[in-house]
Amino acid sequence: MALLKILKFPNPRLRTVAEPVHAIDDALRRTMDDMYETMYAHHGVGLAATQVDIHRRFFTMDVSESRKEPLCVINPEIISKEGVQYDYHGCLSVGGNISDKIKRAAKLRLRGMDLTGKIFEWDLEELAAICVQHEMDHLNGLLFIDHLSRLKQGRIREKLEKANRE
Ligand code: NI
Repeated sequence: MALLKILKFPNPRLRTVAEPVHAIDDALRRTMDDMYETMYAHHGVGLAATQVDIHRRFFTMDVSESRKEPLCVINPEIISKEGVQYDYHGCLSVGGNISDKIKRAAKLRLRGMDLTGKIFEWDLEELAAICVQHEMDHLNGLLFIDHLSRLKQGRIREKLEKANRE
């Protein structure tokens, strides 16, 4: 296994819309293992393929307290959403300890494929629902900061540019 390099905002490659996965092969399984390792090394709850410069539709996540329940979801699809929740978001691709409150669906039904190629459906809420919406944004070339006001986005950009200079 190996740690993968995480693309950081404002890298334009984070804006790529990922393509569906057509085959689950050894290369994909290896990448998934590397993504787990990278996600845990950075204490992330989720990591989308886009963030490691692989533009295919899959992500890893672990929202458990024990950090021992890794999940991978291939070709994820949200088939229904319900309610509203607000929560603080951070992102391994934004860095600088930046987080802000984002409006998300409270509950959702997710359809996806696991590493064995089996299709599953799953009802999620709370952190798991937030994480899935966040990772699916990455697969569509979006970042959590895109959901903030222009004023806040400007401040974040300034803060990150300053941090990069120091
Ligand atoms: Ni993220």
